[in-house]
Amino acid sequence: MRDYNVGIVGATGAVGAEVIKVLEKRNFPVKNIKFLASSRSAGKYLKFKEENILVEELNENSFKGVEIAFFAAGLDTSRQFAKTAVSSGAIVIDKSSAFRMKEDVPLIVPEINKDKISEHKGIIASPNCATIILVMAIYPLCKLSKIKRLIVSTYQSTSGAGAKAMEELLVQTKAYLNDEKIVKEVFPHQIAFNLFSHNTRIYENGYNDEENKIIEETKKIMDDSDIKISATCIRVPILRSHCESINVEFENKTTVDQIRESIRNSKGVKLVDDRENNYFPMPIDSSLKDEILIGRIREDISRENCVEIFVSGDQLLKGAALNAVQIAEELIEK
Ligand SMILES: NC(=O)c1ccc[n+]([C@@H]2O[C@H](COP(=O)([O-])OP(=O)(O)OC[C@H]3O[C@@H](n4cnc5c(N)ncnc54)[C@H](OP(=O)(O)O)[C@@H]3O)[C@@H](O)[C@H]2O)c1
Repeated sequence: MRDYNVGIVGATGAVGAEVIKVLEKRNFPVKNIKFLASSRSAGKYLKFKEENILVEELNENSFKGVEIAFFAAGLDTSRQFAKTAVSSGAIVIDKSSAFRMKEDVPLIVPEINKDKISEHKGIIASPNCATIILVMAIYPLCKLSKIKRLIVSTYQSTSGAGAKAMEELLVQTKAYLNDEKIVKEVFPHQIAFNLFSHNTRIYENGYNDEENKIIEETKKIMDDSDIKISATCIRVPILRSHCESINVEFENKTTVDQIRESIRNSKGVKLVDDRENNYFPMPIDSSLKDEILIGRIREDISRENCVEIFVSGDQLLKGAALNAVQIAEELIEK
């Protein structure tokens, strides 16, 4: 296998930093690596495998020689530069929502639909972090019976909104404990010792942007436009890892034991379902882990053919960087 010239747009951000670590950890075959960011970070150095690499300011000429470009710098940057990267000869793996719902852009979670990667025309999209955690959790379940409906409630950590949002939770927590003034810069509401409806725009249907993304992206990844989905997204004062409470309605009756067995036999997920010790998925256990933890599996006593599950996953890893690197691995294998 040969080595590749790799670029990371947004290398200084929360996701970019994880992409660097995942490439190192998984020993991705890198020939040269280019770190790109805005003028704010240009001139800094970041390490890749003990080597200091200069962070360069992103511009139209940044992609010369780059073969695989990871984009983790937000919607506007992807809209402005992804096609430039493709014109320069790179294949783009995009973490933003810029292209996810475009018909000619595959939206990939390798465990579920890696066969769609070959349909790309230069850009491959990685889903929203809460969507990835949801589809990873329901994929072992849909092998047992067709899923008719999903009701998901999320508990989303601050790092889902980037490095500065994580910092805001720490700064506000210290201020609160010291009885000092709480300053809000990233989030619209106090995040320390509070929680609130996800900080994205509310659409005419009453759902916010994050909820609509979960609904639409899940249908695309599962290749099932009939599945009924409702979502409520909440931001919680956690640094890392999102949790989700999911009610799943099947076409046919499915038992707790069958679900546990299917999770045990599926890749990328781990069963954490210890009723005796009241031990279930938690952010402190899923943080820095590749697997999505699934537990609290029980039949919904209020409705036939329904089960409840609770999941936790590191949204910076499987929800972002790991998923993107796995896409790149599949790409070069093909
Ligand atoms: N955080 C998550 O859990 C998560 C999960 C899935 C997807 N995503 C998506 O991943 C992307 C990055 O999110 P993040 O959480 O890593 O954000 P972040 O921590 O705020 O980092 C943003 C990165 O983008 C760079 N950037 C911003 N504007 C730029 C510009 N005009 N030109 C070049 N670089 C620019 C920043 O560089 P500077 O250092 O120069 O400011 C920084 O490296 C977003 O699209 C987000 O929706 C995030």
